[in-house]
Amino acid sequence: MSNPLKKLITLDEFIIRNEKDFPFASGELSGLLRDIGLAAKIVNREVNKAGLVTDIQGIMGSTNSSGEEQKKLDVYANDMFINALRVSGECCGVATEENDDYIAFEPLPGKNVKYIVNLDPLDGSGNIDVNVSIGTIFSIFRRVSLSGPCTREDFLQKGREQVAAGYIIYGSSTMLVYTTGNGVNGFTLDPSIGEFCLSHPNFKFPSNGKIYSVNQGNFLKFPEPIRRYIDYCTAEDKATGRPYSFRYIGSMVADFHRNMIQGGIYMYPPTTKQAKGKLRLLFECNPLAFIAEQAGGKASSGEVPIMDLEPTELHERTPIYIGSTDMVDKVEEMLRKAKVGEALL
Ligand code: AHG
Ligand code: MN
Ligand code: MN
Repeated sequence: MSNPLKKLITLDEFIIRNEKDFPFASGELSGLLRDIGLAAKIVNREVNKAGLVTDIQGIMGSTNSSGEEQKKLDVYANDMFINALRVSGECCGVATEENDDYIAFEPLPGKNVKYIVNLDPLDGSGNIDVNVSIGTIFSIFRRVSLSGPCTREDFLQKGREQVAAGYIIYGSSTMLVYTTGNGVNGFTLDPSIGEFCLSHPNFKFPSNGKIYSVNQGNFLKFPEPIRRYIDYCTAEDKATGRPYSFRYIGSMVADFHRNMIQGGIYMYPPTTKQAKGKLRLLFECNPLAFIAEQAGGKASSGEVPIMDLEPTELHERTPIYIGSTDMVDKVEEMLRKAKVGEALL
């Protein structure tokens, strides 16, 4: 049992205490992060009763901008986060997986609002109706346009330019994990007091691991070097502790979170059907890449670090290999060798 006298550090308190380390600290980013924390609690309330309340279970009958079926909770979470960001007064616009285009908030009179947010409001939506962990992913940038309504360029920045990123996992407990470029910290929601409390200070990815996460049903559609890497994971080798365990939840946030605690790699490679894989650079890959690097892990497109990719459109996709550094290095090495081999043919 936890010591009731131990001082709890709430998310809001932690954000304020660490404000001095924020880039361009002025209290505005703190306010934005706190509002994201509040929206997370509201979405969590609905996620928790998803099995009970039929009006938030199931499909909307509509599709999002990538042509994917929208669940009611996708739309609910999207609306909640957009509203929270709009009223925060610290965000001048938002782009989300569920909206075709970015949304520019009305400029506030006399205030030059600095930040924009890229958002996957509900990650792993295929798992909503089956009571399996889902998440929310966010990414915060300073706008590059100077004033007035935000512009497309504000959203199409390289992941390297992120000032903060994080995710919420609605799991057996609900957690918010975030970075402002000064390490990664995790907070667990204590439902009895309605606060996110610091539970995982200075999160670190183990440098190596024994878990690989990939939709192995696509095996035959993966490029040859990826099939070889999966064969490598399943091969017996005492020295490296193989075969590795295969774990795939189907919610990137949940697979990533488990791997960050236990050590592992998550992959969404290209397939014969989707040349750039499935995952979105702005809404999923960049924010988790920032967290991975800040926790001592690695995130690669197979060729370059995810955060060095130059986005050209909001809903752009990229292959991704993310997790424990040694494991990501190994995939990159196999991809590189295959390329050299091809060049020699
Ligand atoms: P979203 O629910 O935001 O569309 O994201 C789902 C993503 C990711 O979370 C998950 O790992 C992956 O899609 C699963 O895709 P497959 O079913 O193709 O494996
Ligand atoms: Mn997602
Ligand atoms: Mn989503």
